[in-house]
Amino acid sequence: MNTPISASNPARTSEEASLAAQYQQILRNNDRGGYTVPSARLYPFQWNWDAAINAVGWQTFDEPRAWQEVELLLSGQWDNGLVPSIVFHKPADSYFPGPKEWGGSHLSPPTTSISQPPLLATMVRKMYERSRTGEADQHIRTIVPQLMAWHRWWYRDRDPENTGLVVSYHPWETGSDNSPAWDAALAAVPAATRAYQRRDTGVVDASMRPHKAEYDRFVYLLDFFRECKFDARKIYDECPLRIVDFALNAILLRANVDLAHLCDVLGLADEAQELRGWHARGCIAIDRLWSTPLGRHVSLDTRSGQRLEQKTHAAFLAWYGQVFTGDADTQKSAILLQHLDAHVDASLFSLTSTHPSEPGWDPRRYWRGAVWPHINWLVAEGLAECGHAAQAQRLRTDCLRLIQQSGPFEYFCPNTGEGLGGPDFSWTAAIALILFETQKTQQP
Ligand code: DGY
Repeated sequence: MNTPISASNPARTSEEASLAAQYQQILRNNDRGGYTVPSARLYPFQWNWDAAINAVGWQTFDEPRAWQEVELLLSGQWDNGLVPSIVFHKPADSYFPGPKEWGGSHLSPPTTSISQPPLLATMVRKMYERSRTGEADQHIRTIVPQLMAWHRWWYRDRDPENTGLVVSYHPWETGSDNSPAWDAALAAVPAATRAYQRRDTGVVDASMRPHKAEYDRFVYLLDFFRECKFDARKIYDECPLRIVDFALNAILLRANVDLAHLCDVLGLADEAQELRGWHARGCIAIDRLWSTPLGRHVSLDTRSGQRLEQKTHAAFLAWYGQVFTGDADTQKSAILLQHLDAHVDASLFSLTSTHPSEPGWDPRRYWRGAVWPHINWLVAEGLAECGHAAQAQRLRTDCLRLIQQSGPFEYFCPNTGEGLGGPDFSWTAAIALILFETQKTQQP
């Protein structure tokens, strides 16, 4: 293993400065005029949760450009409040499925019809608090009402039975696209029978991407949404895949708290109360997903009623989600901490998206067992906020070490550290820049 990166080692300062310049350059190279593509050929549009993280990365060296990232993502917001997973600002032929497949090509700008984990309110709060230019107040006046409309969309369209938790209809909405956690639920989805041409396997090696059997079902689902004409109630009642993803719900619960804070700043008392109500109700509901034998929260397939008990990274977003609220939760947090240590110890590098002991684990294939920097960063943020500094530091150090050693790839092999998936990846570069800043603030 490499020597751990030490913020207090002066020999590293000039190396860090040169790496920071490289990472900034990646964001600049992936800039398409106000929005950042995740990786030039593999993902040539603006993605929702990527944009949220990229904006914080931009803010470390170009604050006006950071706010632009957020505003361009929100330019794709639907009238019903949905902030789509992809905004297709300009055409590109290296990606499938494009706007026509989604039924969103008539929109301006064209978009998909699903969302993605709602990190944005939390990232906007970070940007507001880190702002050095005095322009943040003006930006949040526009952005906060748009975020509020998005959160209302989650609770109206994705929790019509008022359970306190929201459902997802497509693995791509959860962000962990082909996680083993979705295998059983996805197997119940019919395979698309129409012809289609994947592009991803022409850009990166097929061994890193989801199998055809999964794509057949991904495509079936997006065809289904289009055929339902995006009717929220019809999709809720009839979609063959309907899951409560613990990770997405934890991210949303946390985002409610941060958005409520921004509403306080703007004097929007009713909205702040509505958001805090969702957080409080959601924490009670999410507690029902705690599995005592597994010592963690699990996800739920609301079609089959089955709990999805695979050991993935998702459970470790509990601290980030601020879901441990009462005295009785102290013990749950302590148990989860032990599982985290064991999960991290199971690989050479950092927290993997799936524990190596899980059937279906694969260290190279997309979300089936590799290390994802943004997940490590989010988990570390939650740990640090809850006072678990040593565990947070371990994830941050491992994550930076991987990026510095192998380059800013999309994700990494947990055994060898090899960079996998898309190269010159925007949010990986952004996270390295953010972690450099975190190190600076922690220097004695
Ligand atoms: C992809 O195409 O792999 C994306 O993750 C979908 O959002």
